[in-house]
Amino acid sequence: MRRLADVDPDVAKALREEAARQHRNLELIASENFVSEAVLEAMGSVLTNKYAEGYPGRRYYGGCEVVDVVEDLAIARAKELFGAPHANVQPHSGAQANMAVYFTILKPGDVVLGPNLSHGGHLTAGSPVNYSGKFYSIVAYGVRKDTELIDLDEVRDLAKKHRPRLVIAGGSAFPRAIDFKPFGEIAREVGASLMADIAHPAGLVAAGLHPSPVGIADFVTTTTHKTLRGPRGGMVMCRTEHAQALDKTVMPGVQGGPLMHVIAAKAVAFKEAQEPAWREYQQQVVKNARALAAALLARGFRLVSGGTDTHLILVDLTSRGLTGKEAQEALDRAWITVNKNTIPFETKSPMVTSGIRLGTPAVTTRGMREPEMAEIAGLIDRALSKVGAVAVEASVRDQVQELTNRFPLYTERRA
Ligand SMILES: Cc1ncc(COP(=O)(O)O)c(C=O)c1O
Repeated sequence: MRRLADVDPDVAKALREEAARQHRNLELIASENFVSEAVLEAMGSVLTNKYAEGYPGRRYYGGCEVVDVVEDLAIARAKELFGAPHANVQPHSGAQANMAVYFTILKPGDVVLGPNLSHGGHLTAGSPVNYSGKFYSIVAYGVRKDTELIDLDEVRDLAKKHRPRLVIAGGSAFPRAIDFKPFGEIAREVGASLMADIAHPAGLVAAGLHPSPVGIADFVTTTTHKTLRGPRGGMVMCRTEHAQALDKTVMPGVQGGPLMHVIAAKAVAFKEAQEPAWREYQQQVVKNARALAAALLARGFRLVSGGTDTHLILVDLTSRGLTGKEAQEALDRAWITVNKNTIPFETKSPMVTSGIRLGTPAVTTRGMREPEMAEIAGLIDRALSKVGAVAVEASVRDQVQELTNRFPLYTERRA
C-alpha cells in the first residue's frame, strides 16, 4: 500500500507539524477539543467511499445495508443521550444544522429574533454577512449593560413588538448558563417556534451540567465537535411533529450525500458520552473553567459577566490597554492558543476586538485540573504583561512546553 508520506510528502509533513503543534501548544479555544483515537479511526475509514443519499432503509443508492447500521446507531445514541424524540445526524456542520431549521419553518423575509453577534450570538443567528441575515428579517436581542446577562425583558418586548416566527437561544460566547424556559414561554406567547443552538454547551447539557432545551424548544441544534468531543459536524433534534419536515429539509433540501465516515465517528463519540468517565470529564471541564476564571480575576483581569457557569470565559482586555488581536498574537508567540472575540457593547471591529475567549474542553481532555488552571492564568498574565518582550515570550514558551509535555496527546500517533 502506498502511504500518505509516499503519495504526498507535502501534506504528510503538514499533518506531522500540526500534530506536533497540537501537542506542544496550550489549546484554549473554547470551540475546540481533542477527539479520541476511536473517533479518529472511524473518521479516517472506508465509509468515506459510500454514497448514501436518503435515510436508513430509504436510500437512493444500493449497498447501504452497512451504513444504515451506522446511522441508526448514531441516531439512537443521540436520542438517548439528550432524551430527544427525533435526531437528524446528517448536517455537515453547525451552520448547516441551523440552516435546516430555518428552511424547515420559515419563508424568506420572515422575522427571526436572535442573539446579537457581538453580545455572544453566532453568525447564523442573523449576521448580515450570513445566509440568515440575507434571507430573513432579523431582530437582535443582547445582554444588559450592568450584568452582562441576557436581557429577558428586552427579548419579551422585542418579541411582542416584532412577532417573530422563530426565536433563537444560544450562541458562541455566552459564559453563563442559558435558561431555556423563559425563551420557551416568550416564543409561545407570540406564536413563534423556538430553536436552541447548544453548539457550545452540548457536552455539558448531555451530562446534566447545563439546562437542557429538550422538551422546551421545538428544535435543538448543535455541533458535535466542541464540548461534545466528537468529529466536526452538526446535528438537529426536534419534536416528533417536525421530524418528517426536518429530514426532508436536510436531504434533499440543503444537502446531498451524508458524510458516512463522520456519522460513524459521531456514533462513536455518542457511545463514549454514555460512559461514566465522560460525565466526570464534563464535570472537570466546568471546574477547570471556574478555576481559570478565579485565577484570572485574582490577577486583575475583567471577565464579562464576572465569571462563568460553563466551559467558556470571555476576557475584556480594555483595562489592560490591549486589543483582542494584540493579545491573541502575543499568546500565539507564547504557544498559548486563543481567539480574539468581541465583547458586549464592543467598540472595535471583529478583526480587532476588545476581548479574548478562553475555554477548558481541550486542556481538560489532556488531563489538566485546577492546579494547572492556576498555572495557565499565570502564563497568560505574564505573556500579556509585556507584549513584544522577546525574553518574556521565550520564557513563557518554555513553561508552556514543560506543562504540555506533562500531559501528552496522541502518544501513538505521528499525524
Ligand atoms: C453557537 C454556534 N452555532 C453554530 C456554529 C457553526 O458551526 P460550524 O462551524 O460547524 O458550522 C457555531 C460554531 O462556532 C456556534 O458556536
